[in-house]
Amino acid sequence: MAYFTIKLVHLLTILCICVSRASSSESGSIHDLLVSRGLPKGLVPEEVKSYRLWDNGTLEVILEEPCLTKYENRVLFDRVVRGNLRYGSLMGVVGLSQEELFLWLPVKDIIVDDPTSGLILFDIGVAHKQLSLSLFEQPPHCKPQGILKNHVRKQKGFEAMR
Ligand SMILES: *[C@@H]1O[C@H](CO)[C@@H](O)[C@H](O)[C@H]1NC(C)=O
Repeated sequence: MAYFTIKLVHLLTILCICVSRASSSESGSIHDLLVSRGLPKGLVPEEVKSYRLWDNGTLEVILEEPCLTKYENRVLFDRVVRGNLRYGSLMGVVGLSQEELFLWLPVKDIIVDDPTSGLILFDIGVAHKQLSLSLFEQPPHCKPQGILKNHVRKQKGFEAMR
């Protein structure tokens, strides 16, 4: 019985440590995590509410709401963005799109092969875009998507007029 109690206390202690670790990693900055994985901290905006990193490498970033920002082109973050985080890459991304010639294309992979090149690669399926890492030095501010909806509506109206 005593042994069982000790075991139980032990287990509870481990649980407590795990819980406090989990919460501390959540309050720790996603931006620091990215940097520790060889990615620029500006890859995700300021407005991150929380994130989770699973043992299998899946990173889930949760924003307050879907929002729009701009690096070279405009980029749309869904409320939840997921991808597989490895050193120097975020692969199989879901929840991120980039505007190319008035089309919103999902970003699939984000890769920094060689930081000394000063380049970051966005794989948007139809094309590989090489962007300057300097665009990602600081986490950008990301604005709610409502702005975009208005903009798209205007564009459509404009196109109908042509
Ligand atoms: C990793 O684990 C999470 C949580 O169980 C799961 O949702 C995700 O699909 C897994 N990712 C991979 C690449 O297996």
